[in-house]
Amino acid sequence: MCGIIGIVSKDGFSVKNTLLKSLKRLEYRGYDSSGYVTGDGELSKRTGEIDPLIASINESTTTKVAISHSRWATHGGVTKTNAHPHFNTDKTIFAVHNGILENFQELKTTLTKKGYKFISETDTEVIPHYFDDQLKQGNDMHQAIKNFMSDVRGTFAILLIKKDDNQIYAIKRDSPLVLGLAENKFILASDIYAFSDETNKAIFFEDNEYALISEDKYEFFNVNGKPITKKIMEFEWTREDETMEHYPHYMIKEIKEQPSSSLRLINSFETIQNNKLNKLADLMKNTKRIVFLACGTSYHASLIGSILLSDLGIYTRSIIASEADSFVKYDEKTLCIAISQSGETMDVVSQLKKAKKAGAKIASLVNVPFSTIQRLSDVSIEILAGQEVCVAATKTFTNQVIVMLELAKRLGYKIDLKQIPKKIQQTIAINEDKVKEMSIKLSKKRDIFVLGKGMSYPMAREIALKLKEIDYIHAEGMMAGELKHGTIALIDKDVPVISLIPNGNEEMISATQEVKARGAWIIKISNVEGKGDLIVPKCDEAEFAIYSGIVGHLMSYHIGVILKREIDKPRNLAKSVTVK
Ligand code: AGP
Repeated sequence: MCGIIGIVSKDGFSVKNTLLKSLKRLEYRGYDSSGYVTGDGELSKRTGEIDPLIASINESTTTKVAISHSRWATHGGVTKTNAHPHFNTDKTIFAVHNGILENFQELKTTLTKKGYKFISETDTEVIPHYFDDQLKQGNDMHQAIKNFMSDVRGTFAILLIKKDDNQIYAIKRDSPLVLGLAENKFILASDIYAFSDETNKAIFFEDNEYALISEDKYEFFNVNGKPITKKIMEFEWTREDETMEHYPHYMIKEIKEQPSSSLRLINSFETIQNNKLNKLADLMKNTKRIVFLACGTSYHASLIGSILLSDLGIYTRSIIASEADSFVKYDEKTLCIAISQSGETMDVVSQLKKAKKAGAKIASLVNVPFSTIQRLSDVSIEILAGQEVCVAATKTFTNQVIVMLELAKRLGYKIDLKQIPKKIQQTIAINEDKVKEMSIKLSKKRDIFVLGKGMSYPMAREIALKLKEIDYIHAEGMMAGELKHGTIALIDKDVPVISLIPNGNEEMISATQEVKARGAWIIKISNVEGKGDLIVPKCDEAEFAIYSGIVGHLMSYHIGVILKREIDKPRNLAKSVTVK
């Protein structure tokens, strides 16, 4: 949640066309409100998306130092006062922050007793007042930062400036922070998307490190204030052109990009990722306990993987990361496989840290190179989907499943991956018009149910998730086998039920009959010609997950268009959930 950007440049830069252009690239991380402040204290912030803030700024507004923020509200409602940057009373210290300061109330009480006045409901506002107090006690910024890291509990990526000081102080714990080394400027950001159009050279902060970024140099320090040398990483970035091109939304662009994004990944298996895949396959063969950790759509991909592997006699558990504390204890015999598009999901990051501490091996499937999850991994496979801007995961889900299929193949599963990109193309071509037609009636529905079983159960959940997050329609992915245990009570005349029936699965056919007998409006997705309302190419049950997912994603997209939803930036959501 939240995107932060800080830029320092001795040549100066445009607030509108440089600072906020970079912030715009992080908008998918949160878009409740946004704001910026320049080194000389010029501050502007407002609720809502970034475009109105950008429009409000004169092209000629330039500066040498600035920080900015796009917010996903945690503490405090969506108001201008709660928007970042936050500042101290005499507006000489400004801060933007991604994360949660868990003991902010305690700190706020102490500072209030010292006479500090708070105007917002946020945890972040503690930061400028804390540093104001530290400096008034005669500490320099190094000491103040060290004290902050020792006094504060919680997660943070903070950018802080002092008025007319011409440098940025950057402090990191748990929340992501990276320094981009661009032509004549340093760019601090929540992730590499902010500057991947300007440079592929970056320095990644580790926990409890801080840095001072000035016009002509950057200096990194550890938690004790000791200077440290950091490695400059060069990331390869698969850059689909990061504009929407002729598409009306990123979501449909990213759905239709899949023939090429899937092919790019498949081609990497025998080449640049071959060794890593062999290493992971060997780990999976020789580990007693495999635990998948993921959230949301990535969890659905992990379920596909789990079923695939159990068919091969490799028993795994797939656990939603936020519930993992209740279900798993890690040890040195455990292999944790994290699946995460952003590589920053805090629920997953915190579990991996626990697992690592317990001696478990860590593997990951990520889309963003050098993300926190990748840097915590002993082996990390990249899904090479390219930047996915739409908050809803589509092409990245497909590529996660394809990596699962490749791993299963290396463990004995029979499948020809090379024909997948063509079948994706066919799936879209055959079904989009029919889906558009059905979406008219579906868009009027209050509830939509999706039935699945075995490998298609994760798809029932995935399609239901998309209907919720894009269309704001209550949808439920149901286990077909559970209908008779209660859920069939929800089925009434004309209630839409999307039924996933791969290869004429008889149990799915009879479950479909059961709901049809109660008057439901059935929409069958099948891979057998003549046996469904929406037909995907012939394939096995695992591949069916990919094609039925694409049909479901197209459906949620076209319903969203009819309902005039905020397709790429659904309400209350963000692309990267970096708070627990
Ligand atoms: C997917 O459409 C959602 N946006 C969400 O469920 C997402 O899959 C989840 O937050 C996990 O994100 P990650 O893959 O970046 O870890």
